[in-house]
Amino acid sequence: MSKTLQAIRGMNDILPAQTPIWRYLEGTFAELLASYGYSEIRLPIVEYTELFARGIGEGTDVVDKEMYTFLDRNEESLTLRPEGTAGCVRAVLEHGLTGGGQVQKLWYTGPMFRYEKPQKGRYRQFHQIGVEVFNQPGPDVDAELIVLTARLWKRLGMAEAVTLQLNSLGSSEDRARYREALVAYLQQRFDQLDEDSQRRLTTNPLRILDSKNAQTQALLADAPTLADYLDDESRAHFEGLKARLDAVGIAYQINPKLVRGLDYYGRTVFEWVTDKLGAQGTVCAGGRYDGLVGQFGGKPTPGVGFAMGVERLVLLLETLGLVPEALDPAPHAYLCAFGEPAERAALALAERLRDQLPWLRVLVNAGGGSFKSQFKKADKSGARFALILGDNELAARTVGCKPLRDDSEQQNIAWDALPECLATCLEQG
Ligand code: HAM
Repeated sequence: MSKTLQAIRGMNDILPAQTPIWRYLEGTFAELLASYGYSEIRLPIVEYTELFARGIGEGTDVVDKEMYTFLDRNEESLTLRPEGTAGCVRAVLEHGLTGGGQVQKLWYTGPMFRYEKPQKGRYRQFHQIGVEVFNQPGPDVDAELIVLTARLWKRLGMAEAVTLQLNSLGSSEDRARYREALVAYLQQRFDQLDEDSQRRLTTNPLRILDSKNAQTQALLADAPTLADYLDDESRAHFEGLKARLDAVGIAYQINPKLVRGLDYYGRTVFEWVTDKLGAQGTVCAGGRYDGLVGQFGGKPTPGVGFAMGVERLVLLLETLGLVPEALDPAPHAYLCAFGEPAERAALALAERLRDQLPWLRVLVNAGGGSFKSQFKKADKSGARFALILGDNELAARTVGCKPLRDDSEQQNIAWDALPECLATCLEQG
């Protein structure tokens, strides 16, 4: 017997029982972003590998260990996008969307791919909803991004379950000076570092700050802190952000060890974290990347954004019991037909109903069946009404209309009167 085919580890099917929650989340987000003046952009899933190597940075876990990279038939190295920012920057540059200092406020959603060790909340194909803003250098827009995510948590009912962590990574010069000091400090304690941190000391020393190793964390307690290396401008930028968050009443924790896993960040970085999902508790993360457009060969253009993990938010909605009821509403009517002439007429009748009542959810029985079996299916579908079409009704151009959710009597209704009748009954119910 041939082996049963299975999905790739860490790449999940999203089954019909789940899709309404996804649509709810995506719909809520899209509506919210429209209210803040953001527009949607749709981007390719595959890009040249170089885009990510240059954008996210060699030496990051994402680029060094986690990319799905392959040669196409033309021997070009391509990569399934591990995140959305690099592709979005490429697109705005390629289409001249940020030329002349034009402000762009964009959002996107879709699958991302990282070869990580799968566990609850961490997958190899996962989905992000992301936002990127270009040509807005001030802390006002950083604050707006955080404010709008806070509003999303409120709309979803999960504001109590997430907390905001904030840090400033300063300018690239600030980080270079800090990196030197940190490396000097850790070099003297090299033997006490975990293996991963020893490697990072040469590849990406700032990432040592968010090491999960307890001994490394203990060593870091007395290490120099980035906050002491910020120049006046970065400090003012960070103060400006904090003052705005204070003004709108958004609580935050300053986390001096928040450095993020992608190299393009400078100044503001933030993460929304929950303790309800176990180890993979970051549901939304982002920050400022004023150097990235320049790095791709464009005119220096400030950028800032974030992305949230859709799987993690769906898990959180489910864990907290916040999935609204009736996300996938039952049909209004289930049309039963007996005999082939009636079946043909049923198909046409349902189409007429849909012409006149586009909002109506009507299921037409398929596959024939006895009165009893069709009625059972009508009941199981959750429909409010069973519509019955047999030879007699066909001859009289009527349908039997039987309420399924209360004890009211069945009525016979002329086809022409049916749309209005249904509309009235459903409105009243
Ligand atoms: P990131 O922190 O790599 O940032 O990912 C953002 C969010 O995507 C995470 O906080 C998490 O919720 C979700 N996520 C990441 N990896 C996985 C995974 N393997 N499985 C499930 N969910 C995951 C970025 O990607 C940046 N592009 C965000 C950004 C946009 N910064 C500025 N603009």
